[in-house]
Amino acid sequence: MKALVLSGGKGTRLRPLTHTIAKQLVPVANRPILGYVMNHLQDAGIKETGVIVAPETMDEVKKYLGDGSHWNLEITYITQEQPLGLAHAVKTARMFLGDDSFVMYLGDNLLGSGISSAVKAFQEGETDCRIFLKKVSDPRAFGVAELDEQGNIIRLVEKPKIPPSDLALVGVYLFSRAIHDAIDTIKPSWRGELEITDAIQALIQAGGHVKGEILDSWWLDTGKKDDFLAANTTVLDQYIKRIIKGSTDTESTIEGRVEIEEGAKITKSTIRGPVVIGKGAVIDNSFIGPYSSIGDNTFIKDSVIEHVVILKNSRVEGVIRLEDSLIGRNARVTKGKRLRGALRLMIGDHSQVEI
Ligand code: TTP
Repeated sequence: MKALVLSGGKGTRLRPLTHTIAKQLVPVANRPILGYVMNHLQDAGIKETGVIVAPETMDEVKKYLGDGSHWNLEITYITQEQPLGLAHAVKTARMFLGDDSFVMYLGDNLLGSGISSAVKAFQEGETDCRIFLKKVSDPRAFGVAELDEQGNIIRLVEKPKIPPSDLALVGVYLFSRAIHDAIDTIKPSWRGELEITDAIQALIQAGGHVKGEILDSWWLDTGKKDDFLAANTTVLDQYIKRIIKGSTDTESTIEGRVEIEEGAKITKSTIRGPVVIGKGAVIDNSFIGPYSSIGDNTFIKDSVIEHVVILKNSRVEGVIRLEDSLIGRNARVTKGKRLRGALRLMIGDHSQVEI
């Protein structure tokens, strides 16, 4: 059993962050999403892992994952020149995959539980494809599956106006070699992509056995800002322990599950967990409220913030109440000197500011 991790694509929905960073490397609770994916593959006992990369972001993805030995994986990088769809990514990886069965994991998806039991069930069973499904409140935004009483998939529809069920496709799929023949029969969709849902549908029509695995843990697609903040909240809730490696002065209070990494310095501040504060960050005369992730070397002074993700090397100063926000790297949010109620902004392309 091999793995294919999809770490190409454009990441348009997370711009402007993804102008300068691969979407799969944006950190959740200060750790790149791909790191969680690799852990799940490692736990499932997989070794040979192909990673699909795009020419624009391949260097930084390679820098983070290296040869995979950190996760006990053997990584082969496969360049997809253009993001022409999930099934196109499988086609691009055809040589690497050979005739082995494989798990395909979208590199920007986070799952609360691992994939070990599903991988085991797939290896022991006779199915051609097993997909993960999750009940969602509005299935119209997702690929949706229709199942029979035995849990076999009868039909898949992409973003249906009238959904046949409330079961959305999660970004993890298990395939036998039969998927390649199915991919060879499909044509690009209206959006010009070779869709994996079309390939699975073709597999069903050719008599393939496709089963659904209903996920009872949480699942997060980190593609948009609010989903991304939700992912950060969930991961902080689940994984953060109280570990204080950085320094705190006597005028500071650290409440609950707070992780403060080496070299971070907290002075005259209150930190109320769950919160993670990266290496070398400085927090002075501020309140950092629950569900916040502060990146390495970020500087926060005279500010009150809550439910905020700030990536590394940024600066927030004199800001009274910043909430529900996502701030990139090397950004500055500061109080102006001669304000008279005016805002002074310099924001990048595709940024969003609510005032
Ligand atoms: P998507 O989120 O569907 O696509 P995208 O990355 O282009 O994002 P956006 O809609 O914001 O522009 O992709 C799911 C995952 O699969 C993501 O990690 C990127 C990856 N991917 C590829 O590797 N190759 C592809 O051809 C496509 C479409 C996606």
